[in-house]
Amino acid sequence: MFFLDSSNPAEIQELFAWGVLAGVTTNPLILSRDAGCVDLEQRIREVLAASAGPVSVELTRETEAEMLEEARAYHAWAPERICVKVPFSEIGLKVTHALAQRGVLTNVTCVMSFNQAYLAALAGGAYVSIFSGRIRDMGYGAAPVIAQTRARLDRERLPAEIIVGSIRHLMDVNEALDAGAHVVTVPPAILRKMLHNPKTEETIREFNAAWEKRAK
Ligand code: E4P
Repeated sequence: MFFLDSSNPAEIQELFAWGVLAGVTTNPLILSRDAGCVDLEQRIREVLAASAGPVSVELTRETEAEMLEEARAYHAWAPERICVKVPFSEIGLKVTHALAQRGVLTNVTCVMSFNQAYLAALAGGAYVSIFSGRIRDMGYGAAPVIAQTRARLDRERLPAEIIVGSIRHLMDVNEALDAGAHVVTVPPAILRKMLHNPKTEETIREFNAAWEKRAK
């Protein structure tokens, strides 16, 4: 399954029309690039209108009380669709657990190791976001982290699903899916790269040219 890693409503609407996307992930970095001076609620409402499925919105405060208050506000925008993105930490686990008990969808984010992913799933995260590119920045691959997490979730029948984000290349998508990701959240530019294959384009040109030149 693919989610789109974007907060640009026009681009989201255009790419959802392909029929291949099942949700959206945003984060404060993406939002500050796409919509620095726009009101967050207004922008997320536009993202909701342009898409379908869960829309992840990340908490930015640092105390448990502030994070729960922020989560309450996000959740109220669209209780069925807002997925509260909780940065992984000790407080993040407590917030995840509290939100899960209230039936609020959560996406525990910035996960870089199997141990963190397992803790996030045990705390009640609906999604656990493992960051492929940023793990590779530390000098090792994300595939073993994804595979070990998936095996553990399956073995213990934990309901959490793995989202793999921080996708930088097409091969990251394939690696994440092969390793056991339930969802890959792809930046728009990477999704567009999946379209192209010169042999496909050459074949379509050949077919259309033959049809144009047919004996009439
Ligand atoms: C995932 O949910 C995140 O929004 C994203 O993929 C982070 O990746 P980055 O390494 O491009 O910041």
